[in-house]
Amino acid sequence: MKPPFVITVDGPAASGKGTVASGLAAVYGLPMLDSGLLYRAVGVLAARAGHDLDDAPAAAAVAKRLTAEDLTDPEFRTRGAGEAASRVAVHPAVRLALRDLQLAFARRPGGAVLDGRDQGTVICPEAPAKLYVTATPEVRAERRWKQLTAQGEDVTYAEILADIARRDERDGGRADSPMRPAPDAVLLDTSEMTIEQAADAARRIVEAARARWESTS
Ligand code: DC
Repeated sequence: MKPPFVITVDGPAASGKGTVASGLAAVYGLPMLDSGLLYRAVGVLAARAGHDLDDAPAAAAVAKRLTAEDLTDPEFRTRGAGEAASRVAVHPAVRLALRDLQLAFARRPGGAVLDGRDQGTVICPEAPAKLYVTATPEVRAERRWKQLTAQGEDVTYAEILADIARRDERDGGRADSPMRPAPDAVLLDTSEMTIEQAADAARRIVEAARARWESTS
């Protein structure tokens, strides 16, 4: 049977994937799952409950109890939340606990856009359209630094560059579902692109995939 039209958008922190994914969701009228938000919520709620983020069973218990209502806290968008997310995301028990929610989203009959690190490799390897969005660490650090200082965080560019390097290493080096492009993902390097150019390039890639998907029965 023909799979639903799912678009996966994976890539490292601050690569522009969130902007690309929400732009695609608007263009195609598809619901979007920001899977990073799930890990951010688990990291923040585990820390708030006083757990050590290396404590896999404690973080997994938080992940199992997570509901959609838990996902609205603005603290999940902070620098500390990104770091906490990356730390709890190494635990296979946490990933397993968040899996069903992501699979249910990926199997929506009308299709979906899934944003994360492992959406095209692990959650929905059968997705008809896959993007892997990247940019140089320096460009990503600059973008993230601007975003966080605009939110009022007191942080330097150098600190953000170090955060990004540490997160890339942890997210790409973990044994379970490491961040990497699916073999059939199209790479989109946004280092030299404006938001509009990245959105246009993503749309062209997805248009080609959609035409292939439409022609299959
Ligand atoms: O996309 P983000 O910056 O909100 O993700 C935060 C962290 O969550 C990221 O550093 C690693 C983890 N994550 C993951 O392991 N798998 C995903 N599908 C999404 C995020």
